[in-house]
Parts: sequence; structure tokens; C-alpha cells
Amino acid sequence: MNPVRIPVIAVDGPSGVGKGMATRWLAARTGWHRLDSGALYRVLALAAVKAGVALGAHDEVAALASTLDIRFVGETEADEAILVNGANWTDKIRAESTGNLASQIATAPVVRAALLQRQRDFREAPGLIADGRDMGSVVFPDAVLKIFLDAKAEARAMRRHAQLSKKGASVNLDDLFVEVRARDERDRKRAIAPLVAATDAIIIDTTRMSVSQVLVQLEILLRQKQLIS
Ligand code: DC
Repeated sequence: MNPVRIPVIAVDGPSGVGKGMATRWLAARTGWHRLDSGALYRVLALAAVKAGVALGAHDEVAALASTLDIRFVGETEADEAILVNGANWTDKIRAESTGNLASQIATAPVVRAALLQRQRDFREAPGLIADGRDMGSVVFPDAVLKIFLDAKAEARAMRRHAQLSKKGASVNLDDLFVEVRARDERDRKRAIAPLVAATDAIIIDTTRMSVSQVLVQLEILLRQKQLIS
């Protein structure tokens, strides 16, 4: 099939808004593939740190991208793993600190360019659910459905706190809030591909919504677009 005809659903939004939950559910509901584009930025940032490349040395960071064999394995959140050149980087990738490193390199046009085709290569039949910041605006502008999930920073910090506490991590809510705000600022204000809803995106503000209420909205959108029967 011509890759351009393979349908994509873009799910964009700030960190901690629940894109992972939404895209996993959409992938299960449609039977389509899933792209976690943030994980690619995270892997690249961590690879730079490991290689002793300064995060500000954008050309060197971008050049590292072509040396990385990145594989996503497993279907559910529990058995998902990210393998980089054969090694399991899953836990390191998910760390809050790695998200901050990723957000720093993501401001560089040369880094974004190095990851652009790599993201588009995930477009495989029967379809793709793409999770990120610029899926609908830059990477897959022809997506059949563009969803922008949003929520107030306070709500996202509290959700992240609950998630981490459940995993047994001891984290301070105020620190999380400060981190969420700092990452938002950087992602929204960067000059290239800033976090912004595509003009044709459907915005869902989940601040006061439960998970099941969000899923009902997603189900309605899938039906409206006739992406499920
Ligand atoms: O979605 P995430 O938290 O894993 O993303 C980590 C960082 O990567 C995020 O703060 C900004 C950057 N990113 C991006 O710039 N563009 C994307 N499509 C995905 C992530």
C-alpha cells in the first residue's frame, strides 16, 4: 500500500496529559500501530549523555540519531520495552529527568530534522496512532483525525504524582509541578514545531474529566470518522 494512504490518528498535547493512555487505547480499539515519538527524543538525549556529547552541540546530537537502532517491543504498558542497539533502556527512558533532557534537544531544528523521517517510517498498514507534540501539525499533517489533549498543569502534576506513587517512587508534588511547568514553557515557546494544536485538531480539555469520560469521547470521534464500525 502507498504509505501516504495509510491512515494516521495524531494525538498531541503537553506532558502528563494522558496521551500514552489514550494512544494505547486507540491502538487496541483500531488494531493500528502506535508511535511514541517522545521516546525517540528521550533515547537520543540519553544517547548523547552516554556518549559525552553536550546537549547544546546540536549537530553532534543529530548525527548520533543514525547510529541508534531503536525498537519498541510488547503491546501493553506492562510488557512494553524500548531496546536501543539491543540493550533495554525502558526504565531510563521513562525517568522524569530524561523527559527534561529530551525537551532540551527538541528545541533544535537539526535534531527534529534528524528524527522526522524516522517517525514517518512508523506509518505502516493498517494504520498508525501517533503520540507527540507536533504529530498533527508537522509530522503527519494529513492525519485523518487530529486530537489535542490538554489539561491544566496542576492536574497533570497531580496525575503524574499519583502514577509515580503507585509505582512506589517517592516524589514531591511541588517539584513535579515546577518540572511540568518548565517543560511546558520550553515545549510551547520553542521556535520550531512548538506544542500547539493543529488548526484542524479537536481539542479535549481533560482537566475535569475521568479516564472513562475521555475514552467515551475518543470512541465518539472514531465513530464519527468511521474509523471503527
Ligand atoms: O512525550 P514525552 O514526555 O515523552 O516527550 C519528551 C520531550 O520530547 C518533550 O518534552 C518534548 C519532546 N518531544 C517533542 O519535541 N516532539 C515530539 N513529537 C515528542 C516529544
